[in-house]
Amino acid sequence: MCGIVGYVGPREVRPLLFEGLQKLEYRGYDSAGISVLNGERIDLVRAVGNLSHLHQAISRSANGDGPPPVADGTGIGHTRWATHGRVTEANAHPHYSTDSRIHIAVNGIVENYVALRQELADGGARFSSETDAEVIAHLIARHYDGDLVKAVRDAYGELHGHYAFVAMSADEPGVLVGARKECPLVVGRGEGEQFIGSAVPAFLRHTNRVQYMNDDEIAVLRPEGVEFLTVSGEPLERPVDEVDWDAATAEKGGYETFMLKEIHEQADAVAETIGERATHADTIDLGDLGAIDDGLLRTIERIVIVACGTSYHAGLVGRYAIEEWARVPVDVEIASEYRYRNPVVGPRDLVIGVSQSGETADTLAAMRAASAAGARVLAITNVMGSQMTRDADGVLFTRAGIEIGVAATKTFVTQVVAFYLLALRLAELRGQLAGAELTALISEVKHLPNLISEVLESGTAELERIADAVHGREFFMYLGRHAGLPIALEGALKLKEISYIATDAYAAGEMKHGPIALLDESTPVVVVATASPVLEKLISNVQEVRARGARVIAVVSASDARLAEHADELIRVPDSDPLLGPLLAVIPLQLLAYLIAGRRGLNVDQPRNLAKTVTVE
Ligand code: AGP
Repeated sequence: MCGIVGYVGPREVRPLLFEGLQKLEYRGYDSAGISVLNGERIDLVRAVGNLSHLHQAISRSANGDGPPPVADGTGIGHTRWATHGRVTEANAHPHYSTDSRIHIAVNGIVENYVALRQELADGGARFSSETDAEVIAHLIARHYDGDLVKAVRDAYGELHGHYAFVAMSADEPGVLVGARKECPLVVGRGEGEQFIGSAVPAFLRHTNRVQYMNDDEIAVLRPEGVEFLTVSGEPLERPVDEVDWDAATAEKGGYETFMLKEIHEQADAVAETIGERATHADTIDLGDLGAIDDGLLRTIERIVIVACGTSYHAGLVGRYAIEEWARVPVDVEIASEYRYRNPVVGPRDLVIGVSQSGETADTLAAMRAASAAGARVLAITNVMGSQMTRDADGVLFTRAGIEIGVAATKTFVTQVVAFYLLALRLAELRGQLAGAELTALISEVKHLPNLISEVLESGTAELERIADAVHGREFFMYLGRHAGLPIALEGALKLKEISYIATDAYAAGEMKHGPIALLDESTPVVVVATASPVLEKLISNVQEVRARGARVIAVVSASDARLAEHADELIRVPDSDPLLGPLLAVIPLQLLAYLIAGRRGLNVDQPRNLAKTVTVE
């Protein structure tokens, strides 16, 4: 996640770009920068930290300690959420070609950057950052012969991955060229001026007339108009839409709440988290995990996962994947219990702390206790620079982008995907998976963003109907087995935290040992029943529920024919591997909780008594 903004027109460009970046800061805020055309050169100002630091850097420039202000023009800006390369000024965007005549701002990941970087460096390019994105500037420069549009099209053809970028050239004033592949980019149409950005809020104060770009398209912005082209240069028609959002709606990308926006960002967030880590068909590359090297991953004897809340549920899914694929024993521990238990842990264990924020006090303390006992500690977190990243021996970042809604949604799915990747890597290193079996699983993991999109695009009509019927109930039971159990736990947590409805979530086989006493005709029972090695057993449990008259709402795999006769409501998600399917099932459960809370008139983004980051124990 990063934010891009660009402007061509007669107005003073820096304030416009800065204002656009402020609206996109939710997409990343570890560093930022602006490039503007100033006469025959491009001036660049970048700063580490949030936008206040960029503001100071721009002011210093204006006060003579750098390039003078530019009256009008052409410029691009970027706010960064680091993926490749540390948070430094040199790694902040925009990036530039060796002669600094081409500048670019990029969102996304260039998967083949290592090979491209080598090839470009061999050809004389001088790199100034550690990022994957910089290759785009050098690649465009290599193709540039006075025509930026053609150079972008040629460069685009050599890139692999998913990205959106905007380029400018010192030799072509009043021209910006944008390109999009699986990352958002939208054009804002003005009179005698044009805007481009990662999202509409970047320019909404100036125009509500927008043109959305599709994958594999190029947009060429000049003050007098915008052309859309295919990457092979064919012109495209692109309708102009008028958005009627107010400022608050715009911040939420047109969604009524941050939570809903974040639910809809899950396919992108998962795609970012997989990124270059699954570029090759037959191997997972987790990059630099610090002291958690391949040797350690080959030899550790046990994994202990410590986490709280939703992150704990992600750890539970992780256990199923790691034990199934890599055959390493895994314990999953609630961090607040683990830290005070005098746990038996030591140098042969890998302890994994999981935390969206990277600041949860109990999780940090559990990790420190394990570290003090000699265990190696890996962090799975979404926040660069968080305390967890400083304490751990290695970090596997999720790349969900900032999550504002208190209820974790997109960070949960990315944590689970981080576990899938880690489990496959462990399996590969330890010789538990190889050949066609490994390739097939990697391919299924890579396909998850498409399947998540499919779930989200299937709409909510069915869920709305169910929410209408059950939103007045005061108790829900959630059941699951195998990898569906943590999803049941997570679905129940989502409902209780945003709707204030009491929920219980249980391993379905355990229900008859007590909780079944709670069931009567008024109880909605939500069952996670995607394809699983124990689906038959789960169906028996569902029959036990049915016999008590409770209303069964089952989330099932698309091709399942067995649950239909046992459930009152069926919610279908695409078919997938038994360990991956449950991840798809969490999406309707998030939406169901959301719709029920909405019908109860509650503020889902800021539920009562909760905080997004829990820094007290
Ligand atoms: C989930 O919706 C909650 N926000 C909460 O359970 C959360 O997952 C928990 O507090 C842990 O937070 P962390 O991931 O930032 O460590």
